[in-house]
Amino acid sequence: METILRAWHSEDAETLAQYANNPNVAKNLTDIFPSPYSLEDAKAFIKKTGTHQPQQIFAIATEQEAIGAIGLHPQQDIFRKNAELGYWLAEPFWGKGIMSKAVMEMVRYGFSAFDIDRIFAKPFGSNIGSQKVLEKSGFLLEARFEKTIIKLGEYQDELVYAIRKKNLKNL
Ligand SMILES: CC(C)(COP(=O)(O)OP(=O)(O)OC[C@H]1O[C@@H](n2cnc3c(N)ncnc32)[C@H](O)[C@@H]1OP(=O)(O)O)[C@@H](O)C(=O)NCCC(=O)NCCS
Repeated sequence: METILRAWHSEDAETLAQYANNPNVAKNLTDIFPSPYSLEDAKAFIKKTGTHQPQQIFAIATEQEAIGAIGLHPQQDIFRKNAELGYWLAEPFWGKGIMSKAVMEMVRYGFSAFDIDRIFAKPFGSNIGSQKVLEKSGFLLEARFEKTIIKLGEYQDELVYAIRKKNLKNL
């Protein structure tokens, strides 16, 4: 399925609320991601995505609709050469290679739009799908911290995957 990364529009709010309101998505994300996810949450999120320059948060979209989100968050202070990558996809679209493609596109974008030399992501130990996405996209597992995360009342390992600008060939 063909997808692109594009800016969020206010007209995306209803589909966003519909796809994001899914415990199977939320259970793999931090508690900042609302669950349940309301139309008001969707509107606030879309508004926030318009405030960054350069753009940090994109919609993953088919020709018809937005089906997921991907964001790059530059770090501060002594960590300012790093940015954290986060993403989720609507459940009906899982397993079609969409996120692997989106992550590679964001990595290329991130290293050209921001003055950073490392992009990292922190999937939970139980999130095999996300780990595979990162490995397919050229990220290396740099660290595993045991049971540092508490999510839905259960401890989770925190995995740190990263990709370095210097290791990327065709930016
Ligand atoms: C994790 C997630 C992003 C994967 O997106 P996706 O578009 O389905 O991933 P892809 O289709 O690109 O899959 C990449 C690889 O992972 C595998 N994979 C995907 N989901 C998997 C799962 N749940 N279990 C095992 N393998 C899985 C695919 O088979 C594929 O492997 P292959 O190329 O060897 O066939 C998606 O399931 C999702 O949004 N989950 C909820 C939110 C989330 O976990 N976000 C990331 C937080 S770090």
